[in-house]
Amino acid sequence: MSNSLELNKVFAAILTAGITFGVAGVIGRLIVHPTMPKESAIQVGEPAPAQAVAAVAAPALEPISPLLAAANVQNGQQLAQRQCASCHSFNEGGRNGVGPNLYGIIGANHARADGFNYSAAIRGMAGKPWVYEEMNAWLANPRAYAPGNKMTYAGLASVQGRADLIAYLRSISPNAPAP
Ligand code: HEC
Repeated sequence: MSNSLELNKVFAAILTAGITFGVAGVIGRLIVHPTMPKESAIQVGEPAPAQAVAAVAAPALEPISPLLAAANVQNGQQLAQRQCASCHSFNEGGRNGVGPNLYGIIGANHARADGFNYSAAIRGMAGKPWVYEEMNAWLANPRAYAPGNKMTYAGLASVQGRADLIAYLRSISPNAPAP
């Protein structure tokens, strides 16, 4: 009888110690956790969130219109052949490929090609015409211009290259407005 009483006391003591230890651990973690800046430190070296990158890497774009008068249409056509023709045709009535036909694109509305399956991002701009600064922003950084679009093209960083290319697009766009 007294033996089991002693045993009960021992169990009780162990139990109390265990509970105290556990509670102390939880409290300790609650207290310590918010003061530990370790979580962000662990992520050093990982890429910054995309939004942060976009915010940092999107300086105001130099306007393209003033450069068009002196732009080189020939060079723009070569750029189009090299960088765009794998996905786009440029001739009147040309077929849609991976991307839509681009004849007459300057001054035409976004998402205007019949039978082409545009992304919601571009379709959502269907009421707006492709004019010079829109085209400039799109070609500089398609992903920033229309997040979620499906044109797999990183962008043309050279402002002169974009001016030449846009001058070429204008040359094949009968309804292009004056720059
Ligand atoms: C890898 C294929 C690919 C390349 C390379 C590419 N495009 Fe595209 N382009 C697309 C696709 C796909 C779309 C449709 C985008 C969408 O619906 O989100 C598109 C859409 C466009 C549009 C919008 C057309 C419209 O009807 O609203 C323009 C303008 C355009 N591209 C111009 C260019 C130019 C100029 C180049 C070269 C500098 C180029 N693209 C390179 C695939 C490509």
